[in-house]
Amino acid sequence: MYTDKVMDHFSNPRNVGEIENADGVGEVGNASCGDIMKIYLRVEDNVIQDVKFKTFGCGAAIATSSMVTEMAIGKTIDEALVLTNQTVAEALDGLPPAKMHCSNLAADALHEAIKNYKEHNA
Ligand code: FES
Repeated sequence: MYTDKVMDHFSNPRNVGEIENADGVGEVGNASCGDIMKIYLRVEDNVIQDVKFKTFGCGAAIATSSMVTEMAIGKTIDEALVLTNQTVAEALDGLPPAKMHCSNLAADALHEAIKNYKEHNA
């Protein structure tokens, strides 16, 4: 049901944790399942230097959280803003249709963290 990449990121998630005095923080929840994701950004010269996440959620939510952190590191704020749940799911070689909503959590939390960063650095 799950691809090798999903299982890899679920079993061995990258960039778990939090960043003290983060430049941007985003938190989203999924009302239907109650899962929550929080993302922390360290930004320098408009480039995302570091991302950490904490996800209280299902395996697909953890795998997509892990993948979105890897995809965002090294990107500019604007490049990271165009990452969507679709691109994250594709990077994991796909998710079962019933689990696509889980990937929204990761993309939305990243976008919220970027919004938070922009509010503080306008
Ligand atoms: Fe809640 Fe996957 S079931 S995010």
